[in-house]
Amino acid sequence: MEVTENIIIKAAMLLKQGRLVAFPTETVYGLGADASNPEAVKRIFAAKGRPENHPLIVHIASVEQINEWAVNIPDVSWRLANLFWPGPLTLILNKRPEVPQAVTGGQDTIALRMPNNPVALSLLKTFAGGIAAPSANRFKHISPTSASHVLEELGSAVDLILDGGPCQLGVESSILDLSGEHYRLLRPGHISVSELEAVLKTKLCTSNTSGVRTPGMMAVHYAPLTRACLCTNERFSESLDKLVKMNKTVGILAYKYQPVSKQANFISMPEKSAEYAQSLYAALRELDRLKLDIILVEQPPETESWRAINDRLGKATVPIDI
Ligand code: TXA
Ligand code: MG
Repeated sequence: MEVTENIIIKAAMLLKQGRLVAFPTETVYGLGADASNPEAVKRIFAAKGRPENHPLIVHIASVEQINEWAVNIPDVSWRLANLFWPGPLTLILNKRPEVPQAVTGGQDTIALRMPNNPVALSLLKTFAGGIAAPSANRFKHISPTSASHVLEELGSAVDLILDGGPCQLGVESSILDLSGEHYRLLRPGHISVSELEAVLKTKLCTSNTSGVRTPGMMAVHYAPLTRACLCTNERFSESLDKLVKMNKTVGILAYKYQPVSKQANFISMPEKSAEYAQSLYAALRELDRLKLDIILVEQPPETESWRAINDRLGKATVPIDI
């Protein structure tokens, strides 16, 4: 269904009433609530089954709105926002004292992002306020990249789902922490470390040692319910043979591996990182739905353009142990 102006107005009204609206962004679908309404924000945590001390990203409609949520804003924030927004970059800044604790999970920092999706931007402009939105999945599940994924994850816990079609990028935004003395990349995304460093004019710290509770940082996250294992191309055929001999039902998410004969439950992934990222979560979901014993994921390249993908695969899988 096309998202008309009337549906956007209805969505903005629901948000004003403290209800939940799921909406598309260029990365993944978000589960939105009015960021200035702590009761509404609490509903997000209940719908996701997410602990309340995990902070949310506030989505805004313009670069200038950073001022409404953050204080002590380093100059580089404006340069980054002007360059990359609307886009898949989340900035962590020191929060204004009046920002509800419910949004920041009790942290004194706030995550801000202006998404690059026409439906999201139109909702943000009509709503005229910040929309707190985590990915619209149950806690620890795979992020949704289509409206049907959101429905599958949250069902009637969400009051309205805006269907903007499949997400263009497919993995969550890069999260850059600018709140302290050292700039840190808390989550890699579509924007590369070198692109960020070129603007920051300094090296980025890429290990998360801040001690902040970020679900994206947990070892097992973004995971299918089926046990998923990461396996190199060299060991792929051998591991698969072993699993078949053990009478295991196996789903395959292949990068280069080609089966010799027709293989069931086989998904061949695109060779380009951008296309791989776009289809990754849908592919994992498709294999997960089959309720197999195991999903075998072939390790893609480990170069810079694959960083975000490898980060998510690392969290969705365990190393193969057969
Ligand atoms: O692409 C995205 O970022 C998507 C779309 C919907 O915008 N959103 C998303 O939200 O991935 P979520 O909640 O699934 O992941 C946001 C991450 C979490 O790991 C959260 O802990 C972290 O951002 N985060 C939020 N506020 C933070 C803060 N003040 N300090 C550190 N990390 C924070
Ligand atoms: Mg998430």
